[in-house]
Amino acid sequence: MKLLVIGSGGREHALVWKLAHSPHATRLWCAPGNAGIQQERCAGSGRSVECVPIGAEDLDALLRFALEHRPDLTIVGPDNPLALGIVDLFQNHHLRIWGPNQRAAQFESSKAFSQNFMAVHGVPTARSGVFTDPHAAKRFAASLDGRCAVKADGLALGKGVLLAQSLPEAEAAIEEIMLKRSFGKAGEQIVIQEMLEGIEVSLHALCDGHVARLFPTSQDHKRALDGDLGPNTGGMGTFSPVPFLSEDELLEAARGILEPWQRGCRAEGIDFRGILYPGVMLTAAGPKVLEFNARFGDPETQVYMTRLENDLVELLDACVSGTLKDIELRWSPQTAVCVVMASGGYPGPYQKGLPISGLDGVTALPNVKVFHAGTALHQGSVVTNGGRVLGVTAWGDTLAQAQETAYAAVDLIEFEGAQFRRDIGAKALGYRSPLS
Ligand code: AMP
Ligand code: GLY
Repeated sequence: MKLLVIGSGGREHALVWKLAHSPHATRLWCAPGNAGIQQERCAGSGRSVECVPIGAEDLDALLRFALEHRPDLTIVGPDNPLALGIVDLFQNHHLRIWGPNQRAAQFESSKAFSQNFMAVHGVPTARSGVFTDPHAAKRFAASLDGRCAVKADGLALGKGVLLAQSLPEAEAAIEEIMLKRSFGKAGEQIVIQEMLEGIEVSLHALCDGHVARLFPTSQDHKRALDGDLGPNTGGMGTFSPVPFLSEDELLEAARGILEPWQRGCRAEGIDFRGILYPGVMLTAAGPKVLEFNARFGDPETQVYMTRLENDLVELLDACVSGTLKDIELRWSPQTAVCVVMASGGYPGPYQKGLPISGLDGVTALPNVKVFHAGTALHQGSVVTNGGRVLGVTAWGDTLAQAQETAYAAVDLIEFEGAQFRRDIGAKALGYRSPLS
C-alpha cells in the first residue's frame, strides 16, 4: 500500500516508524516530515520514506499531491488540517483518508461544542459554563470563588487555557481571552470549568464510527520544568502504562466516558473515525473529562507506538472501513518512557539551526528509539528546527529501567541550550496505590 502521513512532529515520526514496519507499506510519503522521518525505510519494500515539502495546513497542495500520487491511505497527524476539513475534502475526491471529518473534529476544534455535548449526553466533566458575554462569565467564575480554568473556544496551539486560583485572577483571564483577544478569534466564546484536583491521565480510543478500542493509559508532563513548574508546553515527556489506575479501574473509567460519548455521537449523527483522546482528571469523585482531542497525543504516540504489537496499517485501515470490531489491540507488557528534548527558551522564543550531536551513539543502545520532532537536515547534518526537538523513547520491564535507559540516551545527545525534564515518570515511581 502507498501511504501519505501529514505532519512533521514527534507524533508523526512515531506513526511513520510504526507504519514503515508493516509489510503492507510499500511506499510512504510524509508532508512535510522532518530529518528523522526522512531516515526511515519501509520494511516491506526497502524503500526510503520520502518527505514532501508541503505544509500540513496547505490543503490545496496536499490534495494536488494526493491526486497525482494516489496514496491508498492518507493519515492525518495534527489537529489543524482536521479542523480545516481535510478529511471531507479528500473524501469528496474519493481519496481514502484516516481521521475524523470536520464535524467530528469539533470535539477538539471547539471547546464550547465539546462542553455542551458532554452536558447534554452525560459525559462526566467539571462543573462548567459556556459564555459569549464577559459579564456572565465573571458571574459564573464568582460562583466558583474564582478557582477555575478559563478556556478559549477554538484551537490556540494548546495555549488557550488559563488557570485561576482567585476571582481577580479569573476576571483577568476572562479579559485576556475575551477583550484583549490574546488568542484571536478563538476567544469569541469561552468555557469556564471549576478547578479539579487529582491526577491527570491521557486516554486514547481508536474509533471506526461504531466501536471504540481503548489504548492503555499514559501520562504527559505538560509543564516546562521539573516538579511541574514553569509554563505549559505541548508536552515534555510521557510514560505508559501509568500505575495510577488498575486495568479494572481503567475499563470502568473508560466505560463511564466512552459509552455516553458514543450514545451522543449516534444521537447527533456524528461519524467519528479516528482517535479520540480525552484528557482526564482522576478526582476523588471519579474520572472527569477536561477536554477532548480528536488526534493522537504528542508525546503520547511515541510511547504507544513502541508498545503496540498490531500492524498499524491494518488498524488504521480498519478504522476507515468500519471493521475495527474484528481486531483486538495487543500491547507489549513493558513500560515505555519518552523524554522530550526542547530548544532553550521553549515554549517562549528559541533559536533554530543548531547542530545536534550524539544521535549516532544512541542508535547503538538497545531498547531506545529517538523520534525527531523539530529537526531538519542542513548540509547532511541534523540541526534543530522547532521548539520540541527530539522525543527520546526507551522501554524496559519496569518504569525504572525504561527511565534509566531513556536518560542514558538523553545524556549522549547534545545541542546548545538543550532543555529537558529530569523527572519524567518520577511521581509514578514513588506512587503507592491507596488500594494496596
Ligand atoms: P486543556 O487543554 O483543556 O486540557 O487544558 C490544559 C491543561 O490545563 C490541562 O492539561 C490541565 O493540566 C489544566 N486544566 C484544564 N482544565 C482544568 C480543570 N478544570 N481543572 C484543573 N486543571 C485543568
Ligand atoms: N500531550 C498533549 C497533546 O497532545 O495535546
